[in-house]
Amino acid sequence: MIFKTIIEPFRIKTVEPIHGRTRSEREAALEAAGYNLFLIKAEDVLIDLLTDSGTGAMSSDQWAGMMRGDESYAGARSFYRFEAAVQEITGFKHVIPTHQGRAAERILFGTAVKPGEVVPNNTHFDTTRANVEYRSAIALDLPCPEGRQPQEYHSFKGNIDLTALERVLLEKPGQVPLAMITVTNNSGGGQPVSMANIRAASEMCHRFGVPFFLDACRFAENAWFIKLREEGYADSTPLAIAQEMFSYADGCTMSAKKDGMANIGGFLAMNDDDLAQRCKNLLILTEGFPTYGGLAGYDLEAIAVGLKEALDEDYLRYRIRSVEYLGEICMHNDIPIVLPTGGHALYLDAKALLPHIPWNEYPAWALSLVLYLEGGVRSVCIDSVMFGRQPDGSEQPAANELVRLAFPRRVYTQSHFDYLAEVLVHTKGLAPRLRGVRMTYGPPVLRHFTARFEPAYGQLIVD
Ligand SMILES: Cc1ncc(COP(=O)(O)O)c(C=O)c1O
Repeated sequence: MIFKTIIEPFRIKTVEPIHGRTRSEREAALEAAGYNLFLIKAEDVLIDLLTDSGTGAMSSDQWAGMMRGDESYAGARSFYRFEAAVQEITGFKHVIPTHQGRAAERILFGTAVKPGEVVPNNTHFDTTRANVEYRSAIALDLPCPEGRQPQEYHSFKGNIDLTALERVLLEKPGQVPLAMITVTNNSGGGQPVSMANIRAASEMCHRFGVPFFLDACRFAENAWFIKLREEGYADSTPLAIAQEMFSYADGCTMSAKKDGMANIGGFLAMNDDDLAQRCKNLLILTEGFPTYGGLAGYDLEAIAVGLKEALDEDYLRYRIRSVEYLGEICMHNDIPIVLPTGGHALYLDAKALLPHIPWNEYPAWALSLVLYLEGGVRSVCIDSVMFGRQPDGSEQPAANELVRLAFPRRVYTQSHFDYLAEVLVHTKGLAPRLRGVRMTYGPPVLRHFTARFEPAYGQLIVD
């Protein structure tokens, strides 16, 4: 290849206008939304990096697939196409569609987990944690030590700490109904998990008779990192790598809004006949009949096509390189980020950028507000607002104060990334003048979605 530039491997067929607002309009929008970016209208956002979940652009093949959607209540053709696509990649016997990932979590934990039990994971995503805790069970995060150091380089910072996992399995016999690994580790910086780690965790769990599940939302991005970084996989296809990853697991939960390339959907898959039957019974109660699980036939079609497109090498190369490119600009400008850059997002390290803002004035939250105020960019925080409240109501600082810029799939182009880089560099220049926020309302669970704030010192940026 003589050309170095990695281009978007698609042409644009449909466009959706986006609008900049003036700074004072954004200031008013922030105040009206209680300084919570979840409560801002999407039309007031220029570049929306709140999430990569369900926000991607679908391909012409996916839209074509949707026109084939079979909306039969039971036994629709669309379900069998969906089931075949999931089985080709995962190899699991039972495939249970759900309306999104958290429904798969609720059904799995609602069926398999009892009060007081412990579910280890490299790092639970917030809905995963909430669904475990809703069962009055303990969601235990066991990231590898490197995963706790945002600025330290390691190829697989998403790995689970195998020593800690073994300790839990030894100390809590009969109390671990299942263990999980999240690929890639979203709450831990979008960092990948190595095949060696997945294999070792699986063997360990099985030695203790504990089922091993993957939270597989970003399985294709994880497979790509294994191809790039793990010895022995350079010549393997992403599909073959994904198949090996799943071969070590007894089942998975999946949000198809990520590497399913769909705007809605998810699934639960597993090999255990009895567990699958019990999950299907609960599914019928709350999601729908097992061949549609709360989705339309056309959604199942979009996922069936999307799962395969997510494993396309040109797409994965472009996607991972875009994030890396932005990361390089940040490093060049001394903007602290989680290193190395992960799959679906760039994570700004607000603790390092804003050391003068204490954790209980939420430095990441303040930084994300300023990115919106200055540049119309919407992000999300993985921080003490999200994780600070303990089940007993007390407050603890989160391990990290991160601002996540998550990239919708196939939506933004190189010039959007260049604009974003300018916003980041400009905001870095303001860092000493940024101030924290005070929470004026916070619900007991998943509070980042609806909490309200005010600037702790009257303004977000002081003179
Ligand atoms: C790792 C992980 N697990 C589970 C979920 C939940 O999926 P959903 O939003 O489809 O309910 C997400 C969503 O962002 C996630 O990133």
